[in-house]
Amino acid sequence: MKRPMFFFGRGPVALFAVVFLFVGPAFAQNQQPASNSDHPWMNTALSPDQRADLVIQQMTLDEKIALLHGVGMPTDEPVTPENAASNRGVGYAVGVPRLGIPGIDMSDAAYGVRSSGVNGRYSTALPANVAAAASWDVDAAYQYGALIGHELRAQGYNMSLGGGVDITRDPRNGRTFEYLGEDPVLAGTLVAQLIKGTQSAHVIGDIKHYAFNDQESGRDSVNIHISKRAARESDLLAFEIGVTKGHPAAVMCSYNRVNGDYSCENKWLLTDVLKDDWKFPGFVLSDWGGTHSTVKASHAGLDNEEPGDFYYSAKFKAAVESGEISQAELDEHVHRILRSMFAAGVIDHPRQRFVVDPFKGFEIARKEEEGGIVLLKNEKKALPLNASSIHSIAVIGAHSDVGMISGGGSAQVDPIEGNAIMPPDKGATHWMEEIWFPTSPLKAIKARTPQANVTYDPGTDPAAAAEAAKKADVAIVFAYRWASEAMDMPNLSLPHHQDEIIAAVAKANPHTIVVLETGNPVTMPWVAAPAAILEAWFGGSDGADAVANILFGSVNPSGKLPNTFPLSEADLPHPHLTTPPPASQRFPESATAEQRHAGLPPFDVHYDEGAMVGYKWYEAKHKPVLFPFGFGLSYTTFAYSGLKVSDGDMVKASFTVANTGGREGKEIAEVYAMLPSAAGEPYKRLVGFTKIPLASKEKKTVTVDIDRKYLSIFDEQKNGWSLLPGDYTILVGGSSQDTPLKATISLK
Ligand code: BGC
Repeated sequence: MKRPMFFFGRGPVALFAVVFLFVGPAFAQNQQPASNSDHPWMNTALSPDQRADLVIQQMTLDEKIALLHGVGMPTDEPVTPENAASNRGVGYAVGVPRLGIPGIDMSDAAYGVRSSGVNGRYSTALPANVAAAASWDVDAAYQYGALIGHELRAQGYNMSLGGGVDITRDPRNGRTFEYLGEDPVLAGTLVAQLIKGTQSAHVIGDIKHYAFNDQESGRDSVNIHISKRAARESDLLAFEIGVTKGHPAAVMCSYNRVNGDYSCENKWLLTDVLKDDWKFPGFVLSDWGGTHSTVKASHAGLDNEEPGDFYYSAKFKAAVESGEISQAELDEHVHRILRSMFAAGVIDHPRQRFVVDPFKGFEIARKEEEGGIVLLKNEKKALPLNASSIHSIAVIGAHSDVGMISGGGSAQVDPIEGNAIMPPDKGATHWMEEIWFPTSPLKAIKARTPQANVTYDPGTDPAAAAEAAKKADVAIVFAYRWASEAMDMPNLSLPHHQDEIIAAVAKANPHTIVVLETGNPVTMPWVAAPAAILEAWFGGSDGADAVANILFGSVNPSGKLPNTFPLSEADLPHPHLTTPPPASQRFPESATAEQRHAGLPPFDVHYDEGAMVGYKWYEAKHKPVLFPFGFGLSYTTFAYSGLKVSDGDMVKASFTVANTGGREGKEIAEVYAMLPSAAGEPYKRLVGFTKIPLASKEKKTVTVDIDRKYLSIFDEQKNGWSLLPGDYTILVGGSSQDTPLKATISLK
């Protein structure tokens, strides 16, 4: 997928004779581990840190500098001597071949491996990350990451650029689908699992975009203002959990500024918080084009510039030679990169390409989607549909005859055989184009109802759609909102007059089911009209089968919302998204490379809502919502009883959940806490959760451990977490607005 040119400061090098020499061997063979007595760092009994230091002793200054930057974006660029050994992904840092240290071969991998079209490879598209968040399933999150790691390795990469975890501070953020929802404990816990899964395949894992890249509008210039306490209790808590529990080898710093400094040269973010407080031993790489200085960035803690080398090559070498950057500081950057390579296993387990099992990939993608679909409404048990008693179904809208939409930008996974609604273009996908996966809900519905008359209407004309619906026993309307990196939604409405279509169909047929394919929360002016509503997110390679399995009841829905669906944009902390002043956001034609790399003038966004993100905001401000955080229905029912809270090393909440309905199901039990009033937090926080499978009439007593940090406030004076002595109210239930169990515990 091509994207608009960033200014990376590295033109193509077209030395064809040299290229030829490089291309042959690099593509012909898999790399072998270096293992001999001249390479003492290959002794696996030593720690990654010891091994890294042994390598550093042998490295020249140029070799060290070469590890600190990328060589461009191989996917989009001609083969050059520097990128020839790469896997033609979106980034590549040369290793130290002389010492048996391989290059770092990076690919985007949010919901699957990117750039497969242009490289002629296959990648499984998992459902969007937000769907994984909606499953609230720690094992599924691990599987999600493991599949990505496995396919990265199979394709020849050794580093993932996935792991997005910026929390949903603004539900219009175009990358909401790539992230894990609005709550730091949910998002952090799941991203840690995803990272562990990815790294289990001996691939360097990543967490991004550190931090506060919570809007795409003006992301490369916006200056986010937030207090340290609010920062640590919200966005940074998600990263803290991800980093300390998932142990990613790499952290990608974001494009934006935070409290004055660009993230990638922000000492507070990179050194004080990440490296000193969280003891992150890995390396920080910049988002693509997100490096804006040499000495300042190096001092602040940026270890690697990507994808080019404007600041971290010749300029870096000069700074070391002049003493502006000390040898120790240089070695620290190199050490972090090398120790991460050892820790992730990319040196001991060199690249070994192989053919993956796409059928298995489809199965995993389907199961992940089944676990993440959220049943938002189900009046008079409209769902599940009884396939044997239905004579006719009108399937309407959202190209559901051929496919399902996917999320765009650098997360984009290329569909098998190209975009399902475009003229055949078997190559790569295109930047900022809606990409549809060839997973047809119409076909999946037909397959489950061979005796029924199943019709299709494109859902572009309300009268025609209503007419089709009127003639059928059941109408199933698919509606979508595409989203991508590099854009935000102007509002939360469904585009393309889909609100009108849904209203017309639901009026024509009381048995109307709405299936939403969105990455972001949407408003629903028609919410009272249809009998049932499913949120299917961006469903991935086999989304249609997952949706059909839920519609016809072979799978019981068990997902819950990781983001609040508000009633209107007017209820958001920022009813109007602050967008950059247009004039200041473009470089004049005459701008020099130096000026372009230094970045655009800032514009300010104040996060005055502090840590009141998502449900915390609506609760504190007494604003009713359309569907609350943590909400989702099932085809069975659950009852909660017997809450006991105890204190020890961990605070523990034990309670019983019973399946009181007639079929098996899974309930996500959510544990919230209200802090003592001294905390000044007029809202509850999620402090734990568990997903419990239960047969009909079965009940289980479960214990959820509550990390004391999740009950603490961040004390700016002491620069650390404090558990305030006092009474804590623990609330347990099936959604942020349905917590039937309550207990108080006194903590100190
Ligand atoms: C995105 C990153 C991505 C990088 C490489 C940037 O534009 O913000 O998430 O990893 O490009 O494609």
